[in-house]
Amino acid sequence: MFLPSHSHRCGAPSHRRDRDVSSGLTTAPRCAGLLVVLLLAFVFFAGAMPRRASSSARSHHPVYDGDRPTAPPKITIFSAPLRPPDGSPARQELAVRSWLALPGEVSVVLLGSHPSALSLARRLGHRVSVEAAIDSSFTGTPFFHSMVARAQAADADICVLLDAEIVLLPETITLLQKFSRIDRDWLLVSISRNISSLNKSQEIPADKWASDSSDRGLIMAWNNPRNPLLAGVLPSFLYGRGAHSRWLIHEVLSSEMRLVFDASSLVLGLYPEDFSNSEGRLPDGSWEYGANRHLAAVYGSYCYRSPRRDHSPMLYEVVKHPEDYMLSKAEEPTFSNFVRGEQQNAPAEVDSPWDNNNICSADHLLQSYSPGTSEAADVPYSLGMLLEFVADENRSVVLGVAGASYRDMLMSWVCRLRHLGVTNFVVCALDQETYEFSVLQGLPVFRDPMSPKNVSFDGCHFGTQCFKRVTKVKSRIVLEILRMGYNVLLSDVDVYWFRNPVQFLHSLGPATFAAQSDEYNETGPTNLPRRLNSGFYYARSDRATITAMEMVVKQATKSNSSEQPSFYDVLCGKEGVNRVGDDRCLEPSTNLTVVFLDRDLFPNGAYRGLWDRRDLRSACRELGCFVIHNNWVNGRKKKLRRQVMSGLWDYDPSSRMCLQSWGDAGSFRVIRQFHVSDDMDS
Ligand SMILES: *[C@@H]1O[C@H](CO)[C@@H](O)[C@H](O)[C@H]1NC(C)=O
Ligand SMILES: *[C@@H]1O[C@H](CO)[C@@H](O)[C@H](O)[C@H]1NC(C)=O
Ligand SMILES: *[C@@H]1O[C@H](CO)[C@@H](O)[C@H](O)[C@H]1NC(C)=O
Ligand SMILES: *[C@@H]1O[C@H](CO)[C@@H](O)[C@H](O)[C@H]1NC(C)=O
Ligand SMILES: *[C@@H]1O[C@H](CO)[C@@H](O)[C@H](O)[C@H]1NC(C)=O
Ligand SMILES: *[C@@H]1O[C@H](CO)[C@@H](O)[C@H](O)[C@H]1NC(C)=O
Ligand SMILES: *[C@@H]1O[C@H](CO)[C@@H](O)[C@H](O)[C@H]1NC(C)=O
Repeated sequence: MFLPSHSHRCGAPSHRRDRDVSSGLTTAPRCAGLLVVLLLAFVFFAGAMPRRASSSARSHHPVYDGDRPTAPPKITIFSAPLRPPDGSPARQELAVRSWLALPGEVSVVLLGSHPSALSLARRLGHRVSVEAAIDSSFTGTPFFHSMVARAQAADADICVLLDAEIVLLPETITLLQKFSRIDRDWLLVSISRNISSLNKSQEIPADKWASDSSDRGLIMAWNNPRNPLLAGVLPSFLYGRGAHSRWLIHEVLSSEMRLVFDASSLVLGLYPEDFSNSEGRLPDGSWEYGANRHLAAVYGSYCYRSPRRDHSPMLYEVVKHPEDYMLSKAEEPTFSNFVRGEQQNAPAEVDSPWDNNNICSADHLLQSYSPGTSEAADVPYSLGMLLEFVADENRSVVLGVAGASYRDMLMSWVCRLRHLGVTNFVVCALDQETYEFSVLQGLPVFRDPMSPKNVSFDGCHFGTQCFKRVTKVKSRIVLEILRMGYNVLLSDVDVYWFRNPVQFLHSLGPATFAAQSDEYNETGPTNLPRRLNSGFYYARSDRATITAMEMVVKQATKSNSSEQPSFYDVLCGKEGVNRVGDDRCLEPSTNLTVVFLDRDLFPNGAYRGLWDRRDLRSACRELGCFVIHNNWVNGRKKKLRRQVMSGLWDYDPSSRMCLQSWGDAGSFRVIRQFHVSDDMDS
């Protein structure tokens, strides 16, 4: 069953062969051994496919056991419908209906929380479900790594991942059913066809298969989803913003953990003449594309090594023959002809599409939005734009402030807010590193230009000079936002949210400043001197509050200590002369009422020894807590550990994703990671 393969891809220009030699790898002449073709239905395969992670070893095990009983594979199709103008609901519905019309056991999971996905699923019945817990940026763009992770958690034999506007043809299932009988892990890739080009010519000229620069049009399918796709991590690519599919296929090839089947010669999917507004709402030069190019350049080997030069032993082309499909050893993916944009008509000896200069040339991230190196106009979102974008119906926003030492804490806090459906938050980054990290994690982040450059990793805790500088940033930023007309809930990122307190805090009314009490004594007043915690408070954008905050900031600037005492001394008076009752103060010059929040609802870190409870979560549920502050503990690591151990942790730093119920043992990995770093440090 050995058939000659296409020969037009064998001609290698000599300079490329030279590069192969200089790379130190022994490479066969480009065409020898190339013609191995597998007739899937009958052949016992002996030797041409290498075993896992070994490019030279020759195995003699059959890859396909023809006697295996063949139940039809369970196929789950994953797709993230994009909201207009990135996507068209009508086309998406058409596409999903085509998936449901496929033969076999097919189900569909729509990824993302957009209401249109829910209504689509409701219309199309029980085989369509919605997975809303996909991480996405504040602009609503889902993260590709989160989508792939969700697919990997599928209870299916085969996962398919594709754009929500691609109509699948029945041949897809025929092919996947054949391939399900291969006893190896594999990834299949195929480029879908532009309907209008199909209309024009029956034979579909190859250079018209183009997928645009945002990687759209690719269909990916893989078996055994519980097994990894690649050896490294998939970085936080923004879906549909370019580079991620090429990067992923490249990394799967070079990880050599899966065979890669290039089925681009088959027509498996069709897409409308143009993806709806394929530019999307963002120009190609937008930071979302820049972020993806940056990630593609710095992660993995995409920009360091070309699998073509290494003649990936894992790559096969799928060829259709009258009776069956054949596999032919391939030198390079044919779909790469369609992802190199401008050069798609150029002869084969131009630079490999893998070495896309566009992606690998420069550090786009820094180019596109480093405030340190560019004018403010280059920063994608000013503070004003962010506030307008995120603020809720009453112009309230939640503000988190963090530097590098609290990066993971920040993300855990953000994941919790996402989980609660809180979208009206902004993040102030205290340093450039945190700023860039936050941008890549899709946060609505701004950099405080006046904050100290030098917030060191472990040195910035309670009582230190650094801590004092940093905490003074917070009141300054809050005042700035109040003056722009927004109410602010300042929440330190070590405040864990059980439920959203904004509505409650807002209901306390105007000219009221609500703050957490840091009092530890369970009986007695909560408004004693210096018991105001400036790490969690709600300030309204009204005259009284703004005037009072100006006084606080002014006093804090003069003081040698952190800003926290300034809040109390200014608002409640030194020694608490402005106290009213046991839980309030009245600032006389502004008539601002300060409310010390009920500690059952807003406990500090010392209250009732809650953090020492075996089941903190249920203890807090009984009290009715909105939040709990992870303060009254000294040192960053103790704080982290306490929070992780109590189960109030929502972020996996190793995958840079929020922990999800479908992720397996994510929290266990997190705990181990903290243990290890503690041991190494001590
Ligand atoms: C498809 O082709 C037919 C005949 O060639 C033509 O009349 C029609 O306008 C085409 N449709 C599209 C969408 O291009
Ligand atoms: C689809 O084909 C039409 C006609 O060939 C072309 O104008 C259009 O740009 C193509 N769309 C894409 C995304 O390649
Ligand atoms: C950075 O920190 C070091 C020591 O903590 C200090 O000596 C130095 O002046 C700081 N630099 C700036 C720019 O604040
Ligand atoms: C906005 O304010 C109105 C009126 O005070 C209130 O009923 C509503 O709950 C507030 N919404 C939020 C999200 O705080
Ligand atoms: C707590 O407050 C009560 C009543 O004000 C007082 O009697 C008691 O001594 C206080 N306990 C501590 C540990 O300060
Ligand atoms: C603040 O610190 C400076 C220098 O460290 C010191 O001279 C001054 O007395 C301090 N002021 C107060 C109010 O503690
Ligand atoms: C504060 O309230 C008192 C009594 O109601 C009133 O006389 C005074 O003018 C108010 N001050 C401000 C700044 O509103």
